[in-house]
Formats: sequence, structure tokens, C-alpha cells
Amino acid sequence: MVVMATVLGTSSMVIAAVTETKRDVEVLHWWTSKGEMKAARVLQDSLEQQGIAWRNFAIAGGGGESAMTVLKSRAVSGNPPTAAQLKGEDLQEWAMLGFLTQLDPVAQKQHWDQLLPPVISQIMKYQGHYVAVPVNIHRVNWLWVNPALLKKAGAELPDSLASFFAAAEKLKQAGIVPIALGSDPWQEVTLFESIALAVLGPEDYRSAFVDLDADLLSSAKMVEVFRQFDAIRPYVDVKTKAMEWSDASAMVVDGEAAMQFMGDWAKGEFTAMGKVPGVDVLCLPAPGTQGFFTYNIDSFAFFKHDATMNPESQAKMAHTILTPEFQRQFNLAKGSIPVRNDVPLTEFDRCAQASAQAFRANAEHHQLVPSLSQGLANSSYVQAAIFDVVTDFFHSKKADPQQAAMRLERAVRSAR
Ligand code: GAL
Repeated sequence: MVVMATVLGTSSMVIAAVTETKRDVEVLHWWTSKGEMKAARVLQDSLEQQGIAWRNFAIAGGGGESAMTVLKSRAVSGNPPTAAQLKGEDLQEWAMLGFLTQLDPVAQKQHWDQLLPPVISQIMKYQGHYVAVPVNIHRVNWLWVNPALLKKAGAELPDSLASFFAAAEKLKQAGIVPIALGSDPWQEVTLFESIALAVLGPEDYRSAFVDLDADLLSSAKMVEVFRQFDAIRPYVDVKTKAMEWSDASAMVVDGEAAMQFMGDWAKGEFTAMGKVPGVDVLCLPAPGTQGFFTYNIDSFAFFKHDATMNPESQAKMAHTILTPEFQRQFNLAKGSIPVRNDVPLTEFDRCAQASAQAFRANAEHHQLVPSLSQGLANSSYVQAAIFDVVTDFFHSKKADPQQAAMRLERAVRSAR
């Protein structure tokens, strides 16, 4: 009897433990700035309300480079987390290696094909099957502006590259740092891609960075992109230490710099700092890109053999992410807009309203462009090659736009 009781006791304890871990999700992400943490908290709370415990696997570093390095080592050693923030072309690479759970059952139940804009569902699928769930739509081609500083310098709000340079010069003359820029390569590429979109327009941007058209990559137009990129450098603050994108956003809020080129996750930051986007900090389309839309879509993928083996929790998390209420709350905190177009935007600020309008118009005219800096445009190999050329150019004392365009074409050719 005693032996039986012990055995039963032990096995029910084991069952309890298994059930408990089954209701656990370990989630890897890189949302560690003030605004990002608030958004991540919305996800955590939504799951915890359903009895799913959240194990936070947050790796600092905007853009997610460090997070991806850690994820690779966990996955390769057979111990991946339940879910990971994975996006763009990376999804194809992870799915091809066989790591990701297929989400078709939950996608069918929740009608993802009908809910999601085709440009988004296509990113979430590998060989026609869903392998990730989208969280939001971020617009990357934004310029964030401290209006008081522009006023002080007598500068106009810029709407073209020419008026942008005129404003930057006035700010500089007035002793104000025109542009705050953090120290990561992806932040430099964020600046580069907005200038490229202004110079090239959506069609040529696509041919160059998505179709990788060799002629365009080495063309006079691309030389002009590098020329304009070069011209911005004197207006960027000189950094003496590593700086996150959120530190640069704080400089704009605190009046230490006038403008920042950054995706609208910066808006999540401004909101978390108690500022009203569109009022305290203005959102202008990056100069010369009015009406265009560079997209960055955050998404989560789920691992087949995650450390806790819990397919039910994975499905629940995927489902939760696409509910209207989660979409509303999360995107209000994150600075992005919902991926579902049936979520009312009444509570969203005017920057989000403008973003939604631009997204719709560009989707209709097939003019949406994927973000280069955010890994939405190409494979990680091509992306790395482009990053190298762009950041080398930005840091070189003798940067030559002509040579940079040739180098870009060569680097892309050898990486494809
Ligand atoms: C991006 C991500 C955004 C964001 C940003 C800065 O890669 O898609 O959600 O917050 O990094 O960390």
C-alpha cells in the first residue's frame, strides 16, 4: 500500500509537472526598450490571463542581432524556446532547416488567409504553409522631429531631400545637432534605405534591393543614393560610445538633437516617455518619401521541439496574437498599426492614422516596399553584404559614391 501510494504520488506529481510545463511558454524577443517592454507586457498579460505562464527570454539589442545569435545556439543544441521573434526572410531559412511548427490548423480556424493582407500572409508562409504569426505593421520611412528646435533655428519642416538639407544646415548653424543616430549598423542602414527610397522611388527601390538588378545596383541612380547619404554625415552627431536607437529617440525628446530617422517603434518610446506623437514629437514621412511605405512586420514563430514541448500553448499564443483586442492593445503600445484591418483606429494617434492610410494606398497600388535594414527585403546573406558596403561607406574618410555603387553590385552578386 505504502509502495503503491508512493508510486501514485510520484506519478501524479510528474503529471502535475508536465501539465504545468505544458502551460508555460518561453518567449525569445528583443523588446527591451521602455516602449517595447510595455508592448511585450501586453502579450505576457494576454497569455497569463488564459493561464499560460510566460518565461521571458529577452535579449537586449535593438534590431535583434544579439537575440538571433543566442537563438541559433539554443536551437542548434536542441533546446529552443517555445516561441521566438523571427521575421522576414529569416522565417524561410529557419523553416527550410525544419525547425518551425506549422500553424495551418490555427490559421484555418481563425481564417488568417482572409484576415491578413496578402503582402503579410506571404511572408508568414513557407511553401504555402503558415510558419509564423504576424503581430504588427511598422512603417520604417519616418522622420521624427522636435518642433521646438526647428522653430528655434528658423527651419521649415522638410518634405524633400533639398528642404531637409536646408533645415539641417540651419540647425547646425544654430548650434543644434540636426540628426540623432545610434551606433548599430542597422540604424545606419535605416537612414540609407529612406534616402534610397527618396532617390529611387518604390519601383527602382524594389528592382535594386528585392530583385537585385545588377544594372540598377551599379547605376548612376545608385551613385546618387550614396552621394546623398554621404551629404548627411556632417549633420549626424559624432558618437563616442555605443548608442541604442532608443537613446537617439530620447535625444530628440530631450532637445539634444532635432530629428531622427527611425521606424515607428520610436513612437512607442515617445508614448512611454509621456509624449504625444504628432504633437510633442512630429512624425513626417522621411524626406522625399511622402506617400510611400517601407514596411517591417514583426512576427513570432514556434519551435517544433521546444524545451517544454507544448503545442497547445503554441497554438493559443498564435491565436491570441491575431485577436482584435490584442491587436488593439499591443499596437497602441508598440507604435505600429494592427495587421487586421477590422480593428478601429479611433484611439490611435495621428501618426498611426497616417501610417494606416499610407499602407492601404500603397497596398492598393502595389507600391509597398520591404525594409532592407529590418531583413524584410532579402536573405540574411544578401542583407549582410549590403550592410557591409553601406556601413563601410558611412565610416570611411574617403567615401567615394561611384565606387560604393560598384562595390554594392559586386557584393550582392557574390552573396546571392
Ligand atoms: C526591429 C523590430 C521592431 C523594433 C526594433 C528595435 O527589428 O522589428 O519591433 O522594436 O527592432 O528594437
